[in-house]
Amino acid sequence: MAIGKALLAVGLCTAEALSDEDVGYHRLFETANDEFDNRCAPSMGKEMPKYLQGGSFVIGSVGQQEMGDRHFVGYLDAFGKYTRYTVEDGQVCATYRMMRTGFYNNSVEAGTIASGLLFYPVVCGKSRHCASPALLKAIFRGASRKS
Ligand SMILES: *[C@@H]1O[C@H](CO)[C@@H](O)[C@H](O)[C@H]1NC(C)=O
Repeated sequence: MAIGKALLAVGLCTAEALSDEDVGYHRLFETANDEFDNRCAPSMGKEMPKYLQGGSFVIGSVGQQEMGDRHFVGYLDAFGKYTRYTVEDGQVCATYRMMRTGFYNNSVEAGTIASGLLFYPVVCGKSRHCASPALLKAIFRGASRKS
């Protein structure tokens, strides 16, 4: 159950909880659900290694931490997104898309996080980045009972 607790701890981190030394790290826990096509970094020209030319790299990640009045507690419960990086003519371009899963679609239609199989319950209301201490206690007690 240590992994479950570690995931929960990651999911509950807030910008305030991270030290100043981790500048920008908190953004991993913020919603970044903007979608776009081929947003390109400045060209590296001939400095780009030839073996990277013409390639694509697709990676899945977390894109949205909340919907409506509900916020995910488990980081990996959140709505996913795909990022595709393409490399051509010395330039790297990115395309972002939210994953249009049934769970995501149902949530969009409901205007809140729909029911689904989640690692942790969601929190509601304005405390968007942290569950209440009482909820945390309940989750940790439940997690240690199951191990
Ligand atoms: C979710 O909705 C999109 C249209 O917005 C559709 O293309 C996609 O197939 C839907 N996903 C599922 C799993 O039904």
